[in-house]
Amino acid sequence: MKDIAPKRTGLDPIEIASVDEIRALQLERLKWSLRHAYENVPMYRHRFDKRGVHPDDLKSLSDLAKFPFTVKSDLRDNYPFGLFAVPRERILRIHASSGTTGKPTVVGYTSNDLDNWAALMARSMRASGTRPGDIVHVAYGYGLFTGGLGAHYGAERLGCTVVPVSGGMTPRQVTLIEDFRPSTIMVTPSYMLNILEEYRNRGLDPRESSLDVGIFGAEPWTNAMRQEVEQAFDMHAVDIYGLSEIMGPGVANECVETKDGLHIWEDHFYPEIIDPDTGENVPDGEIGELVFTTLTKEGLPMVRYRTRDLTRLLPGTARSMRRMEKITGRSDDMIILRGVNVFPTQIEELLLATDGLAPHFQIELHKKGRMDAMRVMVEALPDHAAPDAREKAMRVLAKKVKDTAGISVEVSVGAPGSVARSQGKAVRVIDNRNRG
Ligand code: DLL
Repeated sequence: MKDIAPKRTGLDPIEIASVDEIRALQLERLKWSLRHAYENVPMYRHRFDKRGVHPDDLKSLSDLAKFPFTVKSDLRDNYPFGLFAVPRERILRIHASSGTTGKPTVVGYTSNDLDNWAALMARSMRASGTRPGDIVHVAYGYGLFTGGLGAHYGAERLGCTVVPVSGGMTPRQVTLIEDFRPSTIMVTPSYMLNILEEYRNRGLDPRESSLDVGIFGAEPWTNAMRQEVEQAFDMHAVDIYGLSEIMGPGVANECVETKDGLHIWEDHFYPEIIDPDTGENVPDGEIGELVFTTLTKEGLPMVRYRTRDLTRLLPGTARSMRRMEKITGRSDDMIILRGVNVFPTQIEELLLATDGLAPHFQIELHKKGRMDAMRVMVEALPDHAAPDAREKAMRVLAKKVKDTAGISVEVSVGAPGSVARSQGKAVRVIDNRNRG
């Protein structure tokens, strides 16, 4: 793996400022942001008034807890532009996420917002080990999804040569990587597995590829998956986090030299962790739901936005800003099976530790009589595809799930290629419990 020297020069000074300096900047910006939301967005004004709080009540960062939360349905209820805090003409870009039900959530950016986003993406890429002059292959989807364009403008801002491939057409992805020789790839981790598979199908050695750094996000992935991809490509795999409502990719990013969780770019986003049931703040170090307040966003300020993502806050290491631990999952993705909570990431970890299985998987939920039941659908690696090898892998994985998660599940080990491949964000759970 390429030895990437930690980058301590050329950083934004605030990345390594003292915690006191960061807190002072946050307080100043938070006052502005609450006022901006209150004065320009009717929803915030009504909510603050109803709660009896005013932006002037924020004297310290902890006063933020007095303010009401914002949730995803607020964006839907104000579809399409009702939460914008500036005249529509000042919005230069729209993104949207489709969601499975109802209206999409629409987000908008002013010129300053786009400028900050590009700068934070450049910062994220630099933390990942990408350097000016590098070639960057962007395989996040372009379009209404924030992944492609977010990565694109960040790469340009850092001074890289960007290859805007977007998602899909896996054979072409491999051809372009081989021909253009990028050092960085930006893609969902599950789609990276398709690229890996295409390398193998062509008889190419992925370890010989030009890739040194992969910047993977937009879905949960485990440290076991990190090892899998790092080994396969002889490259660094670094985690990037973000969400459209707060900005898009680049809200938080790991540093390649430590790979110990994602530094939240706290000069632009103020994080809190709450107990998802009570809404109360929990101290740093405790797991709960991640909540963000934007500090500089003009177009779409967000006050205490509940992400539904579960993680905990940890002190800074390679940067002064706090880290969030790799995300276990979204509260929406948590499977409750006969009273036991399971996340798809737990299955991913166990699967990757089982010999003979490919890293692709899906979970299907169905009814068995009146009980909920879970089937883990995986597939054999080509050299383990014989019936007895599949049978053995099936038993080993089922036992691992039983021993660690405490639940009995059915495991089906299909032939190589039988599990549906990710086209971007992987669909991990298929819920057939309410069908027929
Ligand atoms: O997925 C933005 C993004 C694009 C992030 C490219 C990273 C790379 P949305 O489509 O709005 O935005 O989805 C946001 O995806 O609330 C998380 O549940 C999940 N997510 C994003 N990054 C990670 C990550 C983009 N690194 C939602 N680990 C978030 C785990 C992630 N989950």
